[in-house]
Amino acid sequence: MDRRQFNQHLQRSAIAMAMAPWLSAVAAPADAPRQWQTNPFALGVASGRPRASSVVLWTRLLFSEDDRAVGTEALRVKVEVFADASLKRRVQKIEVMTDQTRGHSVHVHLQQLQPSTHYWYRFTQGDAFSPVGHTCTAPAMNAEVQQLRIALASCQHFEQGQFIAHTEIAQQKLDFVLFMGDYIYESSNPQYAIRKHLGDEPKTLTQYRERYEQYKRDPHLQAAHAAHPWVLMWDDHEVVNDYANDLDRNYTDPQQFLLRRAAAYQAYFEHQPVLLGPDAQNPAQMHLYDQFSWGKLADVWTLDCRQYRSAQACRDPVRGGGRMVMQCDELNDPARTMLGATQERWLTDSLSQSKRQWKLVAQATQISPTNVPAPVGRSYWNEAWDGYPEARKRLLQTVVDAKLNNVVTLGGDVHCNVAANLRLEPNNPQSPIVASEFVTTSITSRGLGDKPAAVIRESNADLLHYRSDARGYSLITVTPKEVRCDFRTTKFPAGTEAGLKTQASYVVQSGQAGPQAL
Ligand SMILES: [Fe+2]
Repeated sequence: MDRRQFNQHLQRSAIAMAMAPWLSAVAAPADAPRQWQTNPFALGVASGRPRASSVVLWTRLLFSEDDRAVGTEALRVKVEVFADASLKRRVQKIEVMTDQTRGHSVHVHLQQLQPSTHYWYRFTQGDAFSPVGHTCTAPAMNAEVQQLRIALASCQHFEQGQFIAHTEIAQQKLDFVLFMGDYIYESSNPQYAIRKHLGDEPKTLTQYRERYEQYKRDPHLQAAHAAHPWVLMWDDHEVVNDYANDLDRNYTDPQQFLLRRAAAYQAYFEHQPVLLGPDAQNPAQMHLYDQFSWGKLADVWTLDCRQYRSAQACRDPVRGGGRMVMQCDELNDPARTMLGATQERWLTDSLSQSKRQWKLVAQATQISPTNVPAPVGRSYWNEAWDGYPEARKRLLQTVVDAKLNNVVTLGGDVHCNVAANLRLEPNNPQSPIVASEFVTTSITSRGLGDKPAAVIRESNADLLHYRSDARGYSLITVTPKEVRCDFRTTKFPAGTEAGLKTQASYVVQSGQAGPQAL
């Protein structure tokens, strides 16, 4: 970029800043470089939200006591972007300001990039350099794309295992990592802990920041972020287990709970390569759901199933949130929503109009049924889509009404590998299969016991594969002909060496809904 282009860029960025206060401010020219006692880039680097001409770069500076004493208020950070791994061909240099109001995080919305192009980047502050990250842009909207490779992941309880799946993810040839929530856990379960969270359950911004700091220091996780752009959605544990919109399990006064949610959302933003932060007018709200295209091959949606959902049906009046429920008429109330009216309308419209070969609907949890026989009728897990059957019906009815082929849903949350048929009427063999589902197991979080998992598998004909006994991620390979899912797993990630195997592989053939085992 020459000086004129750089000035234009500054001008554009200043306009973007005025419209988007969450982006890092563009800085004036630099003065004498600062000398650091400890490298402030201890949390690594990340990129995300890949588009044909843009990507978001992220880092956050963290200070030792010595450095903090010298002063760490507003700091200028340099971002350099290169066309080669040896950092010889620099294509952009941008300077931005960050300060304590954003936890010294840096978000750079890098623009004017080429489609389907690899870039390397690093941040500099004073004499300190960040690690080098690699990212890649999406193909042009009209490109004929032969392959899209995604690592689908979720649920990484720090205490319950090593993040070794991320080491394999880092080594894979991928277009992006699709992380569907439970990036941090607020809670502990000492029974399964092989290492410990620092500090108490987070409730304030400072505490959530500290929790992210612990996770972000993990070298496996840092490697996966440095290797690929990530596309992110949250689930509940980024705030608190089983929260639904403005309600938590303890029935905390919603106004009070929304203060906690605002703190958690702010910390989420400060630690992820996402474009938008919390709403400046209402910081308990943050727009995270999104849609993007991968050439002519696929449209991808990432749905927010937490922020706008109705509370779980037939909750326990003392300890709310998720549980198995039976004889629960509330389940069938059509007013109940998983996505909220605005997001649901947006999804219905954009899904109905999609003309791309594959429609990949990514969301945090499981859409296929997991209900089991009960003394009276059946018993339903009220946290996943089985607890929101009318909302699920509307989603699948959209697929039918718009005559959409090739809808594949991708999820996480349940700590199981799932391949499933999605029918308008779940588990009814007379009801046509209208879409296909893959759900990935957890990176580390413990799964169901073998017995309940077996009962669920045997009680739900739509579940073709349902295994809760291993941890890992799923490799999703999309071509014009098929979507393939390889469940990559290891029994119990207590060691720090990656050693994942393929538990099972399934494909969805173009034009034929329903996964088939390979
Ligand atoms: Fe989880």
